Amino acid sequence: MHIVTQKKPEVVIAESDRAIARMGAAEIANLIQMRNAADLPTVLGLATGKTPILLYREFIRIAREKALDFSRVITFNLDEYYPMNTHSPQSYHHFMRANLFDHIDIHPAHIHIPDGTLSRKDIANYCAEYEEKIQQAGGINLQLLGIGENGHIGFNEPGSDVDTRTRLVTLDPITRQNAAAEFGGETNTPSEAITMGIATILEAQRIILIASGSKKAHAVQQAINGPVNANVPATYLRSHSNVTIYLDPAAAKHIKSA
Ligand code: GLP
Repeated sequence: MHIVTQKKPEVVIAESDRAIARMGAAEIANLIQMRNAADLPTVLGLATGKTPILLYREFIRIAREKALDFSRVITFNLDEYYPMNTHSPQSYHHFMRANLFDHIDIHPAHIHIPDGTLSRKDIANYCAEYEEKIQQAGGINLQLLGIGENGHIGFNEPGSDVDTRTRLVTLDPITRQNAAAEFGGETNTPSEAITMGIATILEAQRIILIASGSKKAHAVQQAINGPVNANVPATYLRSHSNVTIYLDPAAAKHIKSA
């Protein structure tokens, strides 16, 4: 059983986090199949965090079952901590290998994840090049997003404006608190990250945001029903015409019904 609202953005409330994972994974797999059939590349924007883990697991299963051809799939990840070694277990590079890339037949040269090892002086150029690479690939066909408890998307923290691009950002205290366990305490948690911007995300043709659990309920309510502004960056998704928000009942508990 799931409830769907047709308003902008479309909101789908499914019975569990597993159901969200299945729907999201099926959509991504279908998109790749359709574009492969039309001899077109598929450009995916990918997310990290606990929420997409189930989706990636389900996607790997579907990819095997359907023998999905990844030869034309190109990926761009949203973000990476800064500074961050590529092989560190806390890095998003490691996360993506462990949860997705090691399990599918994607060409390593087609994978893009912001580089947390750059020297500070090279970051601005690198970020401009990251944007150019997305354009050269033809733009993102489908962007997968999670949401932070503070309403962030990627690492676009409260205060991030609608016109932001890929850049170095300072992490919000709430984000650092939530990441602290993985880093063995807040003092070891990075205070900066490189993230795609809101404008970068909004250029994707299609966006799916997934959220589960009651910790996300307030941010989800703000994203869907709150005033659109930089205090809750996810509210900017409402200016996009092709967004679906997949929720479990706990994450949906504060949203007004359609
Ligand atoms: C991190 C990521 C976001 C993600 C968020 C929520 O801060 N940069 O892209 O959406 O965490 O993560 P989780 O799914 O673990 O709650």
